[in-house]
Amino acid sequence: MIKFVKESRKDSDAIENLLDIAFSPSRIHLSSYSLREDVPKLESLCFTAKNEFGDILGVVRQWPILIGHAPDNASLLTGPVAVHPIVQGEGLGSSLLNLSLSRAKDEGWKRAILIGDFQYYRHFGFKQQAGKSITFPPPTDTRRVLFLEIESGSFKRLNGKVHKYL
Ligand SMILES: CC(C)(COP(=O)(O)OP(=O)(O)OC[C@H]1O[C@@H](n2cnc3c(N)ncnc32)[C@H](O)[C@@H]1OP(=O)(O)O)[C@@H](O)C(=O)NCCC(=O)NCCS
Repeated sequence: MIKFVKESRKDSDAIENLLDIAFSPSRIHLSSYSLREDVPKLESLCFTAKNEFGDILGVVRQWPILIGHAPDNASLLTGPVAVHPIVQGEGLGSSLLNLSLSRAKDEGWKRAILIGDFQYYRHFGFKQQAGKSITFPPPTDTRRVLFLEIESGSFKRLNGKVHKYL
């Protein structure tokens, strides 16, 4: 039986292990990590999937970011999303993401950016950017930069570099 529960402090080491398995330890060199460094994650949007023994088999986390310099531009950096290989394809990733994104909507977040496979994340409403008005820190494959309008039209008039929420 899988339970979806808020991440707690004591989950940290198990989550780091899971992320190493899902993405490899070199994940820390990805550009998204530079936006997370020294920025606290959004605890209320971080969830784990645990089995009956308390093992962590999946995780979703979210961080705040800023886009350009317009007022009211605080946005979500969704991810990492990871599921242990032994239970991939069983709906854990979808459940975690839906839970975190619906909580984000309840909290009033208007938009999210995620770096990932469009073929998977399009199922949750993420889109590839038509123009090039919002730029993610390098090195990033621009085809993997995905945008979710939690509130319709919320990326309009936003442009510039994505930077840390400090
Ligand atoms: C991507 C990931 C989070 C999905 O979680 P999951 O629990 O395995 O996925 P779900 O069970 O919710 O969804 C399964 C469906 O998504 C598809 N899918 C999974 N990963 C996919 C990908 N990278 N691209 C396209 N489709 C994908 C599966 O084929 C399956 O499709 P089906 O229902 O038509 O058979 C998980 O596989 C994972 O941790 N992968 C390694 C890390 C990673 O690549 N993370 C994403 C980048 S941020």
